[in-house]
Amino acid sequence: MLDHLKQTDHGTPLRVSDKEVTLEIDGVSVSVPEGTSLMRAAVDAGVRVPKLCATDSLEPFGSCRLCLVEVEGRKGYPASCTTPAEAGMKVRTQSPKLQALRKGVMELYISDHPLDCLTCSANGNCELQDMAGVTGLREVRYGLDGANHFRGDSKPAIDNSNPYFSYDASKCIVCNRCVRACEETQGTFALTISGRGFESRVSPGQGQSFMDSECVSCGACVEACPTATLQEKSIIQLGQPEHSTITTCAYCGVGCSFKAEMKGTEVVRMVPWKDGKANEGHACVKGRFAWGYATHKDRITTPMIRKGINDPWQEVSWDEAIGYAASEFRRIQAEHGRDSIGGITSSRCTNEETYLVQKLIRAAFGNNNVDTCARVCHSPTGYGLGQTYGTSAGTQTFKSVEKADVILVIGANPTDAHPVFGSRMKKRLREGAQLIVVDPRRIDLVKSPHIQARHHLQLKPGTNVAVISALAHVVVTEGLLDEAYIAERCDDKSFREWRDFVSRPENSPEAMAPVCGVPAAELRAAARLYATGNSEGVKTGHRVNAAIYYGLGVTEHAQGSTMVMGIANLAMATGNVGREGVGVNPLRGQNNVQGSCDMGSFPHELPGYRHISDSTTRTLFESAWGVTLNPEPGLRIPNMFDAAQQGTFLGLYCEGEDIVQSDPNTQHVTDSLKAMQCVVVQDIFLNETAKYAHVFLPGSSFLEKDGTFTNAERRISRVRRVMKPLAGYADWEVTQKLANALGYPMNYQHPEEIMQEIAALTPSFAGVSYEKIDRLGSVQWPCNEHTDEAGTAIMHVDKFVRGKGRFIITQYVPTDEKVTRKFPLLLTTGRILSQYNVGAQTRRTENNQWHSEDRLEIHPHDAEERGIREDDWVGIQSRAGETVLRATVTERVAPGVVYTTFHFPESGANVITTDSSDWATNCPEYKVTAVNVTRVAQPALAGADTTAPLAHQSPWQRDYSQFNQAQLEHLQAAGQSA
Ligand code: SF4
Ligand code: SF4
Ligand code: SF4
Ligand code: FES
Repeated sequence: MLDHLKQTDHGTPLRVSDKEVTLEIDGVSVSVPEGTSLMRAAVDAGVRVPKLCATDSLEPFGSCRLCLVEVEGRKGYPASCTTPAEAGMKVRTQSPKLQALRKGVMELYISDHPLDCLTCSANGNCELQDMAGVTGLREVRYGLDGANHFRGDSKPAIDNSNPYFSYDASKCIVCNRCVRACEETQGTFALTISGRGFESRVSPGQGQSFMDSECVSCGACVEACPTATLQEKSIIQLGQPEHSTITTCAYCGVGCSFKAEMKGTEVVRMVPWKDGKANEGHACVKGRFAWGYATHKDRITTPMIRKGINDPWQEVSWDEAIGYAASEFRRIQAEHGRDSIGGITSSRCTNEETYLVQKLIRAAFGNNNVDTCARVCHSPTGYGLGQTYGTSAGTQTFKSVEKADVILVIGANPTDAHPVFGSRMKKRLREGAQLIVVDPRRIDLVKSPHIQARHHLQLKPGTNVAVISALAHVVVTEGLLDEAYIAERCDDKSFREWRDFVSRPENSPEAMAPVCGVPAAELRAAARLYATGNSEGVKTGHRVNAAIYYGLGVTEHAQGSTMVMGIANLAMATGNVGREGVGVNPLRGQNNVQGSCDMGSFPHELPGYRHISDSTTRTLFESAWGVTLNPEPGLRIPNMFDAAQQGTFLGLYCEGEDIVQSDPNTQHVTDSLKAMQCVVVQDIFLNETAKYAHVFLPGSSFLEKDGTFTNAERRISRVRRVMKPLAGYADWEVTQKLANALGYPMNYQHPEEIMQEIAALTPSFAGVSYEKIDRLGSVQWPCNEHTDEAGTAIMHVDKFVRGKGRFIITQYVPTDEKVTRKFPLLLTTGRILSQYNVGAQTRRTENNQWHSEDRLEIHPHDAEERGIREDDWVGIQSRAGETVLRATVTERVAPGVVYTTFHFPESGANVITTDSSDWATNCPEYKVTAVNVTRVAQPALAGADTTAPLAHQSPWQRDYSQFNQAQLEHLQAAGQSA
């Protein structure tokens, strides 16, 4: 089940139809959905028709003519890939005539192909080689001496510009699969076939290399290529894999399934798994190629301890490190009370690991001081959707977007942050779905090949709620409500209150336009489009599917929770929840944000979002865990920091989370960590937080452990160990050791046992098991006796989880982060495709070739006013701190708004973000910081030195450099180099 090195290629994509047709292929009767190709029907009948230009991830093209068949009663030899199966057909795939035709085709191909098969990197995995064998090719009548592409002056140079794959045009058979993969699957349209006839070759743009082109290095073309023309460099270097294991990408919340293809215990390639339901065989540059960090030389594989953060690290045994951490935690508790320590779980870790950390904190620490990095990203989603719908969950599957007529993207940048879903969304948009983008920045989706947003509401940062109120106002006052849906599905009282509220003139587009900066007419037109599917706002009777996708541009605001509720209101009011093609879909940031929230990582909730004050739930866990649980919620991350500075919170267990880099107001975070007496960091690298740690416990990457991740669709997929943990233990084993050292016994032999415990204690997980996931590929929670075997694809189908959907009034309140004369610009932050969050992994890969530093995007007007030009170093000051970056002058941002990513620690983007946070959940307001930007007078900045010149570093950056130097010396003293 787990080794899928050679997956069956059905030749053409699956067709879905209510109608089946029955035909005969080589005497075998087969029934297939209407629209299925003869080629695919043949595979179902157990017959393989030779093919080269067809593959089941792409629409048929019909160019190679190798798949010709005979159909009884018809003249000629139709291509089986482009001919649909029809009822009663009698098809022959083998005959002397067909064999001769195919041989002729192969002769032509081979006459212009190098015959270096023995030394070719695709040897053993080349469809051209296979077809030569299948067709019985023994000689090439035309000889091999004529004009060709593989010898002499006509041999094109190999394009090695992409760090992960090469392009050797001499081996190209011009089957067009790569071009179609880039168009159909990825949606980037980077490739064309240039030239005609003999001259035709694949090209990433006239005279351009792959690296200079629009290519985003998703690898779809490489996967589609039947020859060694487009080939992974890891395969060229290491050879063909010999076995594979299915696992799940550890980067973003799309949760793509991959085949880790191996030679022995070495990964040679990560190939997207065709049967993975989240990605259906597609990938992005991170999951596909950026996995080398797992064996990077910076990995720390020996535990270390030290008394003070200015002391050198000492390498010690696992027992000594764990024993030291446990004794320090117990000492602190003895001296300062039970609540003086706590822990942070990570959305990078598995469900089982996260569950175990919160269990350790509640059962062994004896308090509820557990929080997770979801605090700083999607905690408002939990609150907002919980209040309105009754559960913190995205309502759809990714596939659902294929049924959407209108797509509203708010504060999300799917093509950079959730690329595989971004490609899926783009496909639907190319098919004709309408797009509305609400974002202060002109993200790629606004205009990209064959896609143009109907409306880009380029709002001022911090005014989301003003926009959603204006949209709701139009829906209510122009009669665009779905009255029947509301009457049947929603709470009447709350609806009436909300309706009266949003109808008020102060919520009209005309009133909100000056607040949010979006013209009233645009707001009106967008609202009509969302509610009705046509810009005129005239009801056509056709039930339109409108789907909302949102990201951190919604949640990371002072009114993050309010905005989530505003979105939920709008979807209910227009009847857009509870079926395919609609819904409210939070695009989760990290691979397991959903899971870390599900697993009880919040200080007030046990697994399955059950409040700690609920005595029935507590009793259930108390009897399973053999302890008495504290009914009071514990500290959230910001409260832990405040308590540290007050001297009441002195010990922290931090697993897989780099809070120094990822949390706002870095100075406050580091001051808090410095105030603690025992900081235990468990990570794969000596991250920024480890610089303030007393104990370092080496972590394990996703390739080194078993477990599960839950993606943004609530889909639970297996993570499977493909190599031994470099440091000896998987993260769950380390947590277990710490629990035992603290005197709380844990004795799991395998993560499967942890999942059994989760399922036994959590109703929404009751039907989840490794056996079922292995069998079905994945399941979606809720998954129990009330759902299908694979769980729940679409939420709230007949009724909302809370019963009646509840409307909540969402009053717009301007953020405190206001522009002033001193801080006249608004800074907002985001991610870029090639880097991932704080960059700990992607910075240790060749992905740096695309993005090697964080830049400040500034509008030409603002730049000119300040004398700033492209590439200039600029100082950025906020109320919290200052930093220095280089400038990119661009109209992607509106005047008055600047933007940066936060992937590089040395740029310290979070040094300038403030403590301002969501009123309900404390999620930081990363997306709005009032700043001043000035050009830093500088010497010549020739070259691509990405480190700010010392003289122009901010105090933070100077401090950072000096601290780094000291840490490096300590490491060297301990015998480990970073
Ligand atoms: S790697 Fe992806 S984006 Fe680049 S050319 Fe291939 S399919 Fe297109
Ligand atoms: S590069 Fe590969 S996939 Fe593209 S046309 Fe050539 S042989 Fe076909
Ligand atoms: S889209 Fe996300 S989950 Fe999929 S390969 Fe890329 S980073 Fe991994
Ligand atoms: S596989 Fe059908 S024409 Fe190429």
